Amino acid sequence: MIHLTINDRSVEVHEDRTLLEACREHDIYIPTLCFHPALEPYGGCRLCMVEVSQSQPRPRLVAACVHPCQEGMVIKTDSEAVLQSRRITVELLLAGAHNDPGILALAEELGVENVRFKMPDENACVLCGLCVRACHEIVGVGAISMINRGISKEVSPPFHVGSPACIGCGTCVLICPTNAIKLQDVTSFRSIHPTASIYDRVYCQVCEDTDPSVVVFNDFDTLLEVETSHSDNHQG
Ligand code: SF4
Ligand code: FES
Repeated sequence: MIHLTINDRSVEVHEDRTLLEACREHDIYIPTLCFHPALEPYGGCRLCMVEVSQSQPRPRLVAACVHPCQEGMVIKTDSEAVLQSRRITVELLLAGAHNDPGILALAEELGVENVRFKMPDENACVLCGLCVRACHEIVGVGAISMINRGISKEVSPPFHVGSPACIGCGTCVLICPTNAIKLQDVTSFRSIHPTASIYDRVYCQVCEDTDPSVVVFNDFDTLLEVETSHSDNHQG
């Protein structure tokens, strides 16, 4: 065990903890966006910044989700420097996701009223990387990745074409904090990702909703026929 001082409180933690884990174990609040306990820490959003001083003459800001604990560290999670850093981060997040309720709530909590920056086209993606990491680390598929740099950076399957590796599980949709990835579930197909991608729906073989036939449709009329025959098969 090692000893830390967090917000003037002495605490003991295991030496393999990050600062975020240490704070959470002691019920000390730090906001996060790109952190998920099921994924490797990423340190991308910078919302979890805290102030650390140890032997350095001046305290410095570090991302709590990726910074390891060290013996004797003195940590502040609510100093003016920390709050100012979080305000700027939230302002930048709002520039891309103007209407996201979670980020708006954070903005209110931190007293952010004016957003000085706005992205030209809102698609609500804040580039937290959760979807890409979940697809890679949890699903084990890697059907999407971050492409381009700077203002053009985005999440996409290779070449903006639905990836044949994608199994249509929807993990990326569920983990996205801003609902930037949409899922459309129609009787016989599922469509995911910002780019066009359509997957044949595979029905559950355990429950009674069994319709494993692969259906190809080219227009809306065919889709209606498929939907009607599917509902007829499952009535009664
Ligand atoms: S699509 Fe959602 S989960 Fe993926 S990087 Fe953008 S905000 Fe994060
Ligand atoms: S939660 Fe730590 S950098 Fe995003």
